[in-house]
Amino acid sequence: MTGLDSSPVEPAPVDLPPLTEQTRLEAREIMARYPVARSALLPMLHLVQSVQGYVSPEGVTLCAEELGLTKAEVGAVATFYTMYKRRPTGRHIVSVCTNTLCSVLGGQRIMDALSSDLGVHHDETTADGSITLEHAECLAACDYAPVVTVDYEFYDQQDVESARELVAALRRGDKPEPTRGAPLTDFKGISRQLAGFSQYADSSAAAAAIDAPGALGPTLVGLRLAEERGEAAPDMPRRSASSSSGAGAAEAAGVESAKRGAPEPAGRDTGDGRTGTDTPAGAEPGTSGQGPGKA
Ligand code: FES
Repeated sequence: MTGLDSSPVEPAPVDLPPLTEQTRLEAREIMARYPVARSALLPMLHLVQSVQGYVSPEGVTLCAEELGLTKAEVGAVATFYTMYKRRPTGRHIVSVCTNTLCSVLGGQRIMDALSSDLGVHHDETTADGSITLEHAECLAACDYAPVVTVDYEFYDQQDVESARELVAALRRGDKPEPTRGAPLTDFKGISRQLAGFSQYADSSAAAAAIDAPGALGPTLVGLRLAEERGEAAPDMPRRSASSSSGAGAAEAAGVESAKRGAPEPAGRDTGDGRTGTDTPAGAEPGTSGQGPGKA
């Protein structure tokens, strides 16, 4: 039992730093950013994770109390997304992509080598608390395969040896420069960033992180080859957004629903006592016999 009854979030270790009044104030600051306070749950989970290194039972309780949700509701969200950790993490999280493209180019070999070197498997932390190792299913950088991230910063086109050197450096306390993007900090630091607070002590460091170099070479290989060969994509057929049928109508409806103030789709709770307005729940095409309208 965890004290949460319905959530598998693990109990707190004895040396866990407590959530403070400052954490609670920052949680309220996040809530104030949203028209509907419960929309703040995701960054609030990153916030408690930035203090304690995972979403602890205490973190779940804080979020539930502040948002007026049950702990089961908060736990359901915290256990759905893999970026919310259910047990204390190491100083760094090393994620190895083992999805198809990375795997055929060596991602699984990297994962196996690191797992063997560190003596841990997926979602486990080394005894010295330096590294949590995990495999990931596509890190959205397939053009740089095989990819490893550390605290969600990219180390592109890795192989077994470069990944081993990277992890050895992390265990020594070094912070090797990512291939692109912001400088490496640590898991708690990037969690604070994801909560919407700067993880940098001064504004110049924050500005440098924002202006960090990108790398588009592999992404643009196809474009370069097409230019060299004089190839071009065929023109897209033009459709009027005001078209009254088919894909044009669907596209127009999508544009309309993306506008601020547009009515919510049918059946969706807007959080202010209203529900969707355009189609009665259960009356959508293809839902015959389903939904509350047919009960
Ligand atoms: S398959 Fe590895 S980043 Fe997409």
